Amino acid sequence: MLNEFIPVCEPTYGLEERTALIDAFDSGWVSSGGEYNDKLETDFAAYCHVKHGVSVCNGTVAIHLAIRALGLSAGDEVIVPNHNGIYGIYALMYEGITPVLVEAEGLTWNIDPDLIERSITSKTKAIMVVHLYGHPCDMDAISEIAEKHGLPVIEDAAQAHGAEYKGRRAGSLGTIATFSLFANKVITSGEGGVIVTDSEELANKCRYYRNQCFPLNGPRHFIHEDIGYNYRMTNVQAALAWAQLGKIDDLIDGRRRVNAEYRRHLEGVPGIGFQHEMSWAKNIFWMTAITIDPVEAGFKRNDLERHLIDQQIQTRRLFVGMNQQPVLETETQDSGEEAGFPVSDFLADNGLYLPSSSHLEQEKIEAISVAITELVSS
Ligand SMILES: Cc1ncc(COP(=O)(O)O)c(C=O)c1O
Repeated sequence: MLNEFIPVCEPTYGLEERTALIDAFDSGWVSSGGEYNDKLETDFAAYCHVKHGVSVCNGTVAIHLAIRALGLSAGDEVIVPNHNGIYGIYALMYEGITPVLVEAEGLTWNIDPDLIERSITSKTKAIMVVHLYGHPCDMDAISEIAEKHGLPVIEDAAQAHGAEYKGRRAGSLGTIATFSLFANKVITSGEGGVIVTDSEELANKCRYYRNQCFPLNGPRHFIHEDIGYNYRMTNVQAALAWAQLGKIDDLIDGRRRVNAEYRRHLEGVPGIGFQHEMSWAKNIFWMTAITIDPVEAGFKRNDLERHLIDQQIQTRRLFVGMNQQPVLETETQDSGEEAGFPVSDFLADNGLYLPSSSHLEQEKIEAISVAITELVSS
């Protein structure tokens, strides 16, 4: 046991971040629309292999702007994964759009493409996918359905910067994609987000709504034709994110190393399961997520959670499915899934993610793994 608190995730910073932050500060340009906003937008879009990037103040509003830019509105339905955080669902609810819940599949825990089509109705106007814990969704199957029904695909890639589907990067796999730059993400600006798309029209709509619907070009006469928002990211936040982007490949390698080490210690331990990495995927393992089968392991997820925090090891539970959210009781339409949501419910009851910082030291991974196996053999 190490006599030290191990947080579930910490950002990895160095001199480059300090230099960029001081530069942004010294430039005097601390609000939005600065040099670092431009650099982040250009370089992040290039990293995702798409044409346009739009920086915003967090990942939730990134999804909201994507929805506005696509012209979705009250009364529409959007297909969403049931095993998910509430973020994209909130963004739909802001507009009075109905989320239609589709169950996860059991290996990657992402939306199950085989269950999407039967949930499509005449009101369906888009499919929102979420690349969970860093694993890309099965995009060929999803794109085929989307094309057949003429639906745009929103990629919520908040947890999947740099993830790849058949060699193509997350962010380039749908019509428009959104990222979060919250502190626990692979790269961060503290709070922040980026929207990427190949469509100039969609990117410009996002920029327009982001900035209170001031005209993109031309004088500011304070005449507003639509409802807009202040969803801008500051130049200082952009400087931090831009410096982080310069080292993203190392940060992803760090997350993959952490996952490989946990697997080396824990794979085969009775009752412990891992999120799968499909042969066509590069999972960035934003977080190393495990499940505890209480029958096989002889203890419950909550027991492990307590055991680890007693040893100063912080963990987080996996998402509670949208089928269990009180706020959604009257807002959602489930997909007619008679079997309910067994995969999502299993993950909510038995899933947990382990400390996963990119720089997490080997000895800490070992100590955490020992703490877990101790409980298995006790
Ligand atoms: C899948 C997913 N989507 C969206 C978001 C929202 O991002 P933010 O916290 O930056 O608003 C998060 C945040 O953790 C997320 O995990």
